[in-house]
Parts: sequence; C-alpha cells; structure tokens
Amino acid sequence: MKISVLTLFPEVFGPYFSASVPGRAQENGLFSMEAVNIRDFATNKHHHTDDAPFGGGAGMVMMPQPVFDCVEAVKKGYARPPKVVFMSPCGRVLDHTLARSLSQEEGLILLCGHYEGMDQRVIDRLVDLEVSIGDYVLTGGELAAMVLIDAMIRFIPGVVGNSDVHVEESFENGLLEYPQYTRPADFRGDLVPSVLLSGNHAAIAAWRRQQSLLTTARRRPELLEGEALTPKERAWLAEQLKTD
Ligand code: ADE
Repeated sequence: MKISVLTLFPEVFGPYFSASVPGRAQENGLFSMEAVNIRDFATNKHHHTDDAPFGGGAGMVMMPQPVFDCVEAVKKGYARPPKVVFMSPCGRVLDHTLARSLSQEEGLILLCGHYEGMDQRVIDRLVDLEVSIGDYVLTGGELAAMVLIDAMIRFIPGVVGNSDVHVEESFENGLLEYPQYTRPADFRGDLVPSVLLSGNHAAIAAWRRQQSLLTTARRRPELLEGEALTPKERAWLAEQLKTD
C-alpha cells in the first residue's frame, strides 16, 4: 500500500512514521508513505494557499489551485488512480470497519485541510470520501490523517507481529477486549486472576469471553446488540450487572 499525505505541514509526519511499528513496517516494505507540501504547488507570488471566503465570514479558505495541482501531480506517481480521502469533521466517522476496508486499497491520497475550510470545488471534483476521526474539530487534518494511517496499517499482514492479535483485540469480534496481565503474578499483593495461571485453556477462553462481555455491557452496551449471546451468557451477564 502506498499513501500520499497532502498537507501544509509535511514535517509533522516524519517523527511518528519513522518510529516503532510504522517505522519498521515501512523499512520492511509493507507500506510506504510520503508527505507532500501543498504550498510547493502554489503559483502565486507569495505561495499563498488560502484566501478570504466569498460571502464574508471569519477565517480563511484553502484555495483550489494549489490543491488541484498537488493532487494531479501526486496521482502521476500511481499506476492506478488512488482513492482521494479528505480529512474533515463532516466526513464518515472512522471505525474499525472503515479502517480495515481502506487498508485494502493499493494507493491512497489523504488530503489535510487547514484554516477554516476547503474550497468546495476541491471536495466536489477531487475527493472520493471524507473521513472524520470524531465529533470535535481539530485545527487541521494532520492528526486525523495520522490516526487513520495508524489504524489502517495494523490490518496489513505482517505489520503487527502475531495474526492472533487481530482475532483477540477489541472490535474484531464486536466486543471490547478482556483484561490482560503479565508477570509478576503477585504485584504489591494484587493477584492475577487464578484461572490465567491454571494452564486450562478452555477455562481461560471461557473467562476471557465472560470478561469481554462484561466490559462491553458496562461501557458500550450498544455493541452487544449485534452479538449472538447464548441464553446462559445472557443470564450470567444479567446477574453480574445486577450488583453494579
Ligand atoms: N479536521 C478537523 N477536524 C477533524 C476531524 N474531527 N476529523 C478529521 N479531520 C478533521
């Protein structure tokens, strides 16, 4: 997968994506990303990329010319036309399903806005999909693009070490994850649940399923609506929740 981020602040992408999991994944050729400066495509004398909104109002709007030229130039680096995603609070809210589906694209252009907005003609003519990372407004799309990239690359085979990670983690099975523990078994008198030390794999799996159900019921009950619970599980859960 190749990702091009179009931004006025390409320098903010370097540190995060050269470190840790994303850094290793790029070194191993599992994905590649470039950050392209939209300002380099501004043809006006002072390389301005924004102007006052028609109709008046506060703030500045990103001009179409630098963005069109930037997108058109970047597309030439792709054999097949990449999907163009605009990071915007007006977009589809990012979740596990959207991250997984976008991770299957061969190429992606992520367009980051700044100032108060983007000229609508950019959105109408160039953008295939708008994505939001939540119901709040950031000062620009850069952090949102980083969140999206990080969430997507975890689905690329080999990026996160063990493929079981995906099966077990939160959201993959529609539930939040069960609690995890590591050594020591006794930390300041606080003990790890004994079933995890039992070596009984069936009992451990059953405990983890129960804990996932309980955490999900307490924190995100709406996630349980699509979940196929056995009558026994429902009864157990109801009993647990009674004492909350
Ligand atoms: N740009 C500004 N706010 C944003 C948000 N919540 N999600 C995506 N892009 C944004």
